[in-house]
Amino acid sequence: MNDLMGVVLRGTGRGLPDRVVTNADFEKTLDTSDAWITARTGIKERRCSVPGESTLTMGLQAARRALDDAGMSPEELDLIVFATISPHYPLPSTACLLQAELDIRDIPAFDIGAACSGFMYGMIVAGNMLQNGVYKNVLVVGSEQMSSITDYEDRSSCVLFGDGAGAAIFSSTDDRRKGLVFCSMGADGRGAKLIWIPGGGSYEPVSQKTIDERLHYVRMKGREVYKFAVQKMQEVIEESLDKAGVSPAELALVIPHQSNLRIIESACEKLGLPQEKVMVNIDRYGNTSSASVGICLDEARREGRIKEGDLILMVAFGAGLTWSSALMRL
Ligand code: ACO
Repeated sequence: MNDLMGVVLRGTGRGLPDRVVTNADFEKTLDTSDAWITARTGIKERRCSVPGESTLTMGLQAARRALDDAGMSPEELDLIVFATISPHYPLPSTACLLQAELDIRDIPAFDIGAACSGFMYGMIVAGNMLQNGVYKNVLVVGSEQMSSITDYEDRSSCVLFGDGAGAAIFSSTDDRRKGLVFCSMGADGRGAKLIWIPGGGSYEPVSQKTIDERLHYVRMKGREVYKFAVQKMQEVIEESLDKAGVSPAELALVIPHQSNLRIIESACEKLGLPQEKVMVNIDRYGNTSSASVGICLDEARREGRIKEGDLILMVAFGAGLTWSSALMRL
């Protein structure tokens, strides 16, 4: 994909439930241990919503904080892109619900389902819309209530996921030095059943059978996904740096999707990226799918790890299979 310059990151925000579920909490209900989860994934705890909280409420909190950060009112937005695989309702889109919550009318709003690559897919769609002059200010939200689609009887997947939301506002700018220096998106549908929810869709609508067989929860072939992720992450990072003619030393920060600390470390080690240049918060939030890169982006900005003028690299992969990378000059 071409570069998308003339796009500026105006503000970011995150929305996380207060409820913390630690690895020790899982020890009470599952044949697992803090030692296993920590060693295999790097996760120590994750956030889980309580009744009343949802993909919409977390997304709304993140969006309001991003607007605040940008010093903008909701009326200034002209597009909402909402990435999720755990929507508030199956119908209508959570983007439309968010638009109503923000008390704005008429602007287009739609959801994107690209799992863990969702926030980045949304950002690249937004970048295109901004660069071709159709829109000026786009709100991109990634939000997931993973706890609503997680099988808490499946120890190999339930310890991985957490709830949360990340949001960002991108605007068009005349400053052509700012924007997506290089970005890419990809998918391989042959891997669809490596991470999937078999029931509850049009092929196998909700029934007593889907409920009894727990078909409405995420199923994952962890080891195969792991191999794909390690290889793809390294590949897309190398491709981005290569095509943009950028060396790792020029990067202020790499923001990888938070799926497994070992996946992140393995890709970064092979590329010789020092630890301090890699954003990691999986220990506190687990894998929040579409929200993960947005949450990281917000934390990195608020912690002062990135600032205007910096070059950052974001990279994600997930169910689909999907993947995405974006090299951005802030
Ligand atoms: N506690 C204790 N033991 C466990 C647990 C657990 N929570 N889970 C699995 N085990 C056991 C297995 O049963 C197996 O036991 P066995 O050897 O007796 O059969 C053993 O641990 C090893 O299992 P593996 O699955 O081979 O373990 P692995 O080292 O691959 O780690 C993990 C599993 C963490 C899931 C890893 O494969 C992984 O991170 N995969 C990638 C997941 C991912 O990135 N998903 C991203 C996309 S998600 C999305 O898009 C929504």
